[in-house]
Amino acid sequence: MNVVLMGPPGAGKGTQAVRMVERYGMLQLSTGDLLRAAVKARTPLGLEVESIMASGKLVSDGHVTRLLRETLEASLAKGAASFLFDGYPRNPAQADLLDDLLSSLKIHLDKAVRLTVSDGIVLLRLGGRRVCRECGATYHVRFGPPKREGICDKCGKAALYQRPDDNEQSIRERLAIYAKQIDPLVQRYSSQGLLADVSANDGPEEVFARIVECLG
Ligand code: AP5
Repeated sequence: MNVVLMGPPGAGKGTQAVRMVERYGMLQLSTGDLLRAAVKARTPLGLEVESIMASGKLVSDGHVTRLLRETLEASLAKGAASFLFDGYPRNPAQADLLDDLLSSLKIHLDKAVRLTVSDGIVLLRLGGRRVCRECGATYHVRFGPPKREGICDKCGKAALYQRPDDNEQSIRERLAIYAKQIDPLVQRYSSQGLLADVSANDGPEEVFARIVECLG
């Protein structure tokens, strides 16, 4: 199964992706994670996009698509057969690029899941998010804290940090960009019969149950 996962910042795309990967055996391709890995590794691309990401603006379609294509092709070469596109596409141009890429690789898209959530909940979730610098596990100081403060449950490292784009100004910028770009994508996937709208205002397990209902 190949699925696009859309939703505003803080909707829980990363949180649900972990569960979807476990249940359906898909490989998660998160453009946000790929870009953050480039920043961490101080690659030329990472250095170029670091301040753009921190401000909450979108990275250029060319950069992000190249990164996605390279990772997708490398994953296929290693035998991956089913993909979860997390955070890509974010605009019609990226949707066109994804269609071209998938058809050239003979990959068929099965569903586009859109998580919907109120702006107030987004601000609460992102204000309290902590991420492990080592393994990428995500926590929330109130809604899902680690067992020991500051220590990752998964890898045991004292490496929890707040993302530089999780400040109120960047969050509001990301929400505004999302609101501007999402409608054409919704129309596109809806007209193709692929769209599944999932309310993500409740706890992670309830949201996941709704996703499973849509995906079967
Ligand atoms: P990206 O990393 O994709 O960020 P985003 O879209 O802003 O989404 P987030 O990662 O902030 O939120 P999420 O929905 O994954 O929420 P999470 O599960 O962590 O992109 C970052 C940047 O990279 C972009 O701004 C842009 O600059 C660039 N970029 C990426 N893709 C691009 C593209 N295609 N084109 C151009 N630029 C691109 O959950 C958030 C918090 O809430 C966590 O603490 C979690 O524990 C908690 N939580 C989650 N679900 C629940 C729940 N149901 N109940 C209670 N708490 C919950």
